[in-house]
Amino acid sequence: MNEFATDLTTDLATDLAHGLSQTPKSLSSKYFYDAAGSRLFQLIMGLPEYYPTRTELAIFTAQGAAIGAALAAGAAPGAPLLVVELGAGDGLKTKLLLRELLATARPLTYEPVDISPAALAELTAALAQELPALRTEPLAADYGAALDLLAARPEAKAVLFLGSNIGNFSPLEQAEFLRALAAPLSPADRLLVGFDLRKDPRRVQAAYDDDQGVTAAFNLNLLTRLNRELGADFDPEHWQHFPDYDPATGAMRSWLVSRRAQTVRVAALAGRAFEFSAWEAIQTETSFKFSLPQITELAAAAGLRVVATFQDEAGDFADVVLAR
Ligand code: TRP
Repeated sequence: MNEFATDLTTDLATDLAHGLSQTPKSLSSKYFYDAAGSRLFQLIMGLPEYYPTRTELAIFTAQGAAIGAALAAGAAPGAPLLVVELGAGDGLKTKLLLRELLATARPLTYEPVDISPAALAELTAALAQELPALRTEPLAADYGAALDLLAARPEAKAVLFLGSNIGNFSPLEQAEFLRALAAPLSPADRLLVGFDLRKDPRRVQAAYDDDQGVTAAFNLNLLTRLNRELGADFDPEHWQHFPDYDPATGAMRSWLVSRRAQTVRVAALAGRAFEFSAWEAIQTETSFKFSLPQITELAAAAGLRVVATFQDEAGDFADVVLAR
């Protein structure tokens, strides 16, 4: 166990009761990713408005060899390398890096960690086909379990935390989490963290409010999941997706707004009733956007140094290699 396991492995019912007693009410974003949610997120990653995934993919396509070299730089030539990825999802971007690392002629083990067993099963099957030389050891768990895993493995490591998932933590948690990630690492190990950068606020806002309504469906799917798994009686028709971006803090927030005064009952919480007033909002996720100086500061606060920074030409996204 570790400090994040206690925060992150409590169950859905407990988290729901806790989140709905906060002001404002909130729900943990890790519950977006049931099978339907993981599929919707894959659609989001392909949307014209959602630039982060394709931008990070472009960085890996253009600079994959250099990134691979930076990740393996601390490990002895030919020595085994363990690549652990937190929130691997469909692994589309990571495959590019794994190919580069396989080319460095060392035994390579890939441990994708993801909260969605369905997404992991698909990824593992795809990797067996596409990269047969790779040893894949999937772990269906949340970030807390990944931290325990890192502490238990002796080989040289490269830890991947891509897609600006770091931005889904509050600024305080960001530093704490990076510190916890770094604790089991040796000075030769490397961390690769993807950061979505500050940009035109309209582009950020649009990335979380697409024209086809896929993001709205993704956010609302959280309520469908609560209905199915906890016997809640949310009527998705009475809720609306609302995104808002604060360019001063870089906080991109997603809300579920109650379109009317309503009461929701949850069977798994002994039929407990939750009251929502008209236009009351539940916060479902914050995605912080970063500046480069902020990233350096964050690394320092976590006891890490920036080894290398890789960006796209427009400066929309940065992949940063960190070491203790
Ligand atoms: N981690 C992703 C992000 O912050 C998840 C995400 C994309 C998301 N679009 C969303 C979460 C809309 C909630 C609502 O970019």
